Amino acid sequence: MKLGTPCSASATRLMMLGAGELGKEVLIAAQRLGVETIAVDRYADAPAMQVAHRAYVLDMTDPEAILALVRREQPHYVVPEIEAIATSALEHIENSDMAMVIPSARAVQLTMDREGIRRLAAEQLELPTSPYRFAGTLPELEAAAAELGFPCVIKPVMSSSGKGQSVARSAAELPLAWQEAQTAGRVGAQKVIVEGFVDFDFEITVLTVRSAFGTVFCPPIGHRQEAGDYVESWQPQAMSQKALEDAQNMARQVTDNLGGRGLYGVEFFVQGEQVIFSELSPRPHDTGLVTLASQRQNEFELHLRAILGLPVDPGFRRASASAVIRGKNLGWGPCYSGLETALAVPESDIRLFGKPQAQKLRRLGVAVASGADVEEARGRARSAAAAITVSPS
Ligand SMILES: Nc1ncnc2c1ncn2[C@@H]1O[C@H](COP(=O)(O)OP(=O)(O)OP(=O)(O)O)[C@@H](O)[C@H]1O
Ligand SMILES: [Mg+2]
Repeated sequence: MKLGTPCSASATRLMMLGAGELGKEVLIAAQRLGVETIAVDRYADAPAMQVAHRAYVLDMTDPEAILALVRREQPHYVVPEIEAIATSALEHIENSDMAMVIPSARAVQLTMDREGIRRLAAEQLELPTSPYRFAGTLPELEAAAAELGFPCVIKPVMSSSGKGQSVARSAAELPLAWQEAQTAGRVGAQKVIVEGFVDFDFEITVLTVRSAFGTVFCPPIGHRQEAGDYVESWQPQAMSQKALEDAQNMARQVTDNLGGRGLYGVEFFVQGEQVIFSELSPRPHDTGLVTLASQRQNEFELHLRAILGLPVDPGFRRASASAVIRGKNLGWGPCYSGLETALAVPESDIRLFGKPQAQKLRRLGVAVASGADVEEARGRARSAAAAITVSPS
């Protein structure tokens, strides 16, 4: 393995498709090794664009637009950071050896659609999951919910961060749930997955790194979601050795099947001693922002190392937590105050993503903190986040 010099003929080039806050951290890690970076998103001045050598605004659901850019930039690695990408372009890039797709075109394709990953996990690998059905119309949804019982969870098959997701407590709530899924999904009219509600004790993300030297797991990350979106995470989540082993075994099975190199975020629900597979991201996970504080190599550095074929070692340091900083409808160029108070919290740190526009409940930053135990770390991360005030410019 050999790395070149950026902006020269020898450059090692990495193209990030999606330029959010998670991609920004990966590109910062890439910059540190002198990798040449290209950030792509559908809007200008996205977080990762601000730390990249070059940036492009592009409709990533248009396969021709992606292929034209890859021909122009000739990256060695194409790294999807979001789900809404034309996967036919990724397949073409992989099959014609234009670049290495991370972790693989198939992994990205199967995970962008809840049906793909759920059928693989539950039907092919026979992992325990919530009971589920798919529905393409309101009557189909009503029939599915009647079979599964209430409460049940309704999600568009193509969506993330809880968009279009709702919990129905009775048949009367189904028309609204259907409507929600249709308007908030990624593309026009679409199918939903209906899942039996899992009354879990806690939920975890197992960051799983597939490197050239084998598979490595990070300690389990516990997290709390509001309306299907993450607000707080901590590491390590206390759990029995047996449950942890079960989760790791499942994470290994599903990531071995998906293959490729890179970091995966594998989500589970834990109920008593039972571990239930939920879903996974073929890339750094938002709840993994806690690793900015907790590990010697955070999830972004682990992803980059795995991509480049380098050795990985999470190196857990100390109990830590993250708490998100969110915006209201504040328009362009929001301002942040209270950093003096936030950063006076012991063992704390703040990341402001530099998002150009603050939309309702959009994640704009994160506070991370460490402590003697998870409780102390959570308290500190929450205080640091709460000290930040976001206001219009
Ligand atoms: N069947 C279920 N039973 C109980 N809670 C659920 C169920 N499915 C989802 N949830 C809750 O909603 C959250 C978001 O669900 P899920 O991860 O499937 O959606 P998502 O839109 O992909 O979210 P993200 O992109 O943030 O990971 C879960 O972390 C969990 O807290
Ligand atoms: Mg999720």
